[in-house]
Amino acid sequence: MTRELPDSIARNIEQWTKNNTAHLDGRAASAWAQDDLTWGVFGTREEDLGSPLGSVRGLDVVELGCGTAYFSARLAKRGARPVGIDPTPAQLETARRLQAETGIVFPLVLAPGERVPLPDASFDLAFSEYGASLWADPRLWVPEAARLLRPRGLLVFMTNSTISYVCSPDEGDLVERLMRPQLGMYRTEWPGEVGVEYHLSHGDWIALLRGSGFAVERLIDVYARADSTKHEFYGYVTPEWARQWPPEEIWTARLTGMSDRATPSEAT
Ligand SMILES: C[S@@+](CC[C@H](N)C(=O)[O-])C[C@H]1O[C@@H](n2cnc3c(N)ncnc32)[C@H](O)[C@@H]1O
Repeated sequence: MTRELPDSIARNIEQWTKNNTAHLDGRAASAWAQDDLTWGVFGTREEDLGSPLGSVRGLDVVELGCGTAYFSARLAKRGARPVGIDPTPAQLETARRLQAETGIVFPLVLAPGERVPLPDASFDLAFSEYGASLWADPRLWVPEAARLLRPRGLLVFMTNSTISYVCSPDEGDLVERLMRPQLGMYRTEWPGEVGVEYHLSHGDWIALLRGSGFAVERLIDVYARADSTKHEFYGYVTPEWARQWPPEEIWTARLTGMSDRATPSEAT
């Protein structure tokens, strides 16, 4: 049975069309020019996080929520065969412009992470850096990632940590105080924002991943470094806060096909 798609998709397209025009299109060229793989708001190098993606040479890779696709471009430079998926036309237009300018060309598909028009078992690696992992409904995109992966394929995604969520005021930087309950946080709408985010507790991520046929391999807490500075655009957290608590986390999970008895919809 095909599940109905959530209204958050249209709202997030609106949000990311605005973000593209206001900020991201202008930053895309420098992001594509970089060779290092870096994660999150403090740009932590893949190698300094214990290489969650591992060697990507020769792998078929799908990026779920690729934005301007700079991360996929860097994987292509390392010998991967990426495919970028994103529902926001403006973001993919920027990605296409950069493909034309750099000659680094790979398929870009206009679609949400909740429903990807690509065949079953066609990728070795599925990943998301704040794409589907934050902006798509996890009850739909995690099973979709499982469908797209080959047996023993790897899912890697970065999103906000639970502690960053509970320490988020309605506006401004993260604070050193609990601002909201952890229970019931699934779908989140911030005041004044069009977009809709999805946040799960660690227990709910594990239940959902296992229920979708994954074995969880790693959960990496991502802190700021001593030399980190605040991100110019995604500036919701200061380096001082993020040297004490991890505002972001990376999950890695291996597709085993051995599903828990809990279904994804029962997991949260
Ligand atoms: C922060 S960007 C992530 C890409 C890149 N790592 C970056 O930092 O620019 C968020 C992207 O998620 C995309 N997005 C929004 N809703 C989505 C959905 N339902 N499925 C997949 N991606 C979605 C947006 O269009 C946007 O391009």
